Amino acid sequence: MMTRFNRLSVCLAVLASALAACVATGAGSARAAEQTAKFYLVGTGPGDPDLVTLRAVRVIQEADLVFCSESLKGRFASHLGGKEVRHVAWYLFQYYGQDPAKLEGQQRRRCEELAEQRSRFVAQVRQAMQQGKRIAVLDSGDPLIYGPLAWCLEEFEDLDPVVVPGLSCFNAANAALRRGVTTGEHTKSVILTATDFRGTTDTIDKLSVHRSTMAIFTMKAEFKEFIKRLSVNYPPETPVAVVKHAGYAEKEEVVQGTLATIVDQLGAEGLPFEYMIYVGDFLTHRYKQVPPRD
Ligand SMILES: C[S@@+](CC[C@H](N)C(=O)[O-])C[C@H]1O[C@@H](n2cnc3c(N)ncnc32)[C@H](O)[C@@H]1O
Repeated sequence: MMTRFNRLSVCLAVLASALAACVATGAGSARAAEQTAKFYLVGTGPGDPDLVTLRAVRVIQEADLVFCSESLKGRFASHLGGKEVRHVAWYLFQYYGQDPAKLEGQQRRRCEELAEQRSRFVAQVRQAMQQGKRIAVLDSGDPLIYGPLAWCLEEFEDLDPVVVPGLSCFNAANAALRRGVTTGEHTKSVILTATDFRGTTDTIDKLSVHRSTMAIFTMKAEFKEFIKRLSVNYPPETPVAVVKHAGYAEKEEVVQGTLATIVDQLGAEGLPFEYMIYVGDFLTHRYKQVPPRD
């Protein structure tokens, strides 16, 4: 016969084992969350959506939560159906890692404002990771070639982020030019560069000393200014090309000339954000040189 004391100890034992099971399940689900949670920075290619890689598509399709710009949301709508998609601003890299206390006025305010926006995004990512979600942050082109979201890799270093490489607009623009970009008449090196950002020492005029081929990511900078800087070291007859909207079958366009002619060739027409400048003799190089006349 069960005494009152015995019944109490049975109850306590049942309670303890239920509690242990709960703790174990909690730990188990935390472990499971750790196992499924993953952070991906995904390159989605330039231009038309069919320039995305199969790997990027798979990662997007398997993601529980996607962060991207409005334009990428539209471009990849067919892969995003039914998914939770949130906006991430491209400009969050600005002032990343800087101490606002060391800045003044407008710069300080902007630095603080962006730090706030960034921390909201970071909190969303960390919370989703704790819930075991797979997160895909999408960028256009390749995320590690002038990619504005590359700072995420430092911020989420502890989450062991994975990068899915993408085709860069550099690749698409090379294709539009239909020339081997590494095969110049007298050069075989290519410098990928951008507008001369404040504080950088590798400015365009310094880089152009060897007259290597240059592919310039223009980032809204003034076109004439690029040509002026390039003209410091490249002779005026150096071939130049402007590639607009590389990778978009319907609107891709190439304008080719020389340093001396390109500004007039483009005239007063405005240039889109998505354009690159190429300079170098690869643009006119031909394997089969025309034999000299006697
Ligand atoms: C912030 S960078 C991004 C580059 C991107 N990560 C990539 O790998 O293609 C933006 C600059 O890349 C160039 N760009 C981006 N997409 C382009 C396109 N489809 N055609 C031509 N240039 C493009 C422009 O010079 C633009 O100012």
